[in-house]
Amino acid sequence: MNDKELVARHAVQQVEDGMIVGLGTGSTANYFIDELARRHADEGLQVTAAASSVVSTIRARERGLPLVALEHLSRLDLYVDGADEVTPDMTLLKGRGYDLVREKLLARASDVFLVLVDRSKQVGRIGEHFPVPVEVMPFAWQLVKKRLEVLGGRGDLRRNAANDGLVVTSHGSLVLDMVFDPAFETEALDAALNDTPGVVEHGIFRGLASAVFIAAEGQIQEYWATQC
Ligand code: A5P
Repeated sequence: MNDKELVARHAVQQVEDGMIVGLGTGSTANYFIDELARRHADEGLQVTAAASSVVSTIRARERGLPLVALEHLSRLDLYVDGADEVTPDMTLLKGRGYDLVREKLLARASDVFLVLVDRSKQVGRIGEHFPVPVEVMPFAWQLVKKRLEVLGGRGDLRRNAANDGLVVTSHGSLVLDMVFDPAFETEALDAALNDTPGVVEHGIFRGLASAVFIAAEGQIQEYWATQC
């Protein structure tokens, strides 16, 4: 069993009967979905799931998890997802899967947001390994890009895997992948992105994680926000 599967299986133990559980997106979240579905089928665990992406919706449905659409929810008990980067203060960079609006909505609406990572995701600062994804309204992308360049950002629209078109999110947004000066404090960058018209959402998640579970060489370490 690899570290992502290990930490996902560990996290499923946090799910209790009757919970509304948000499902993340990515390879770690997939292991979580599979194990949650197994507990639902084999142990009769009663859960209602809400997915953060179309791909996770399909995976959960195929495995028999009861699903509810986001528009029917006002809160969740638990949201479990991976991340692309995690700093020591539990700030996250997310969005390689690019459905940022749903991911941040679920993170904000959940009583507990668990982040599952392996050690490769630990960084000293946001942006160390990846550009910051910025989801933009299609008609606004050039104006947003210009504003982010004024802030010192460099980057461009994300292209699809075949490199013959642009990535379009499930809400019809485009994604700018932007690199900023390492001296740009994450808190200030987060505020600047929040304050940029035309930005639908972005990949910096500050003050949202309740806990980060880190898997390394077969061991799990739990870091809860109250312990920071
Ligand atoms: C999805 O948009 C991302 O935020 C994922 O949570 C992130 O890419 C983690 O993916 P892995 O679990 O595949 O590493």
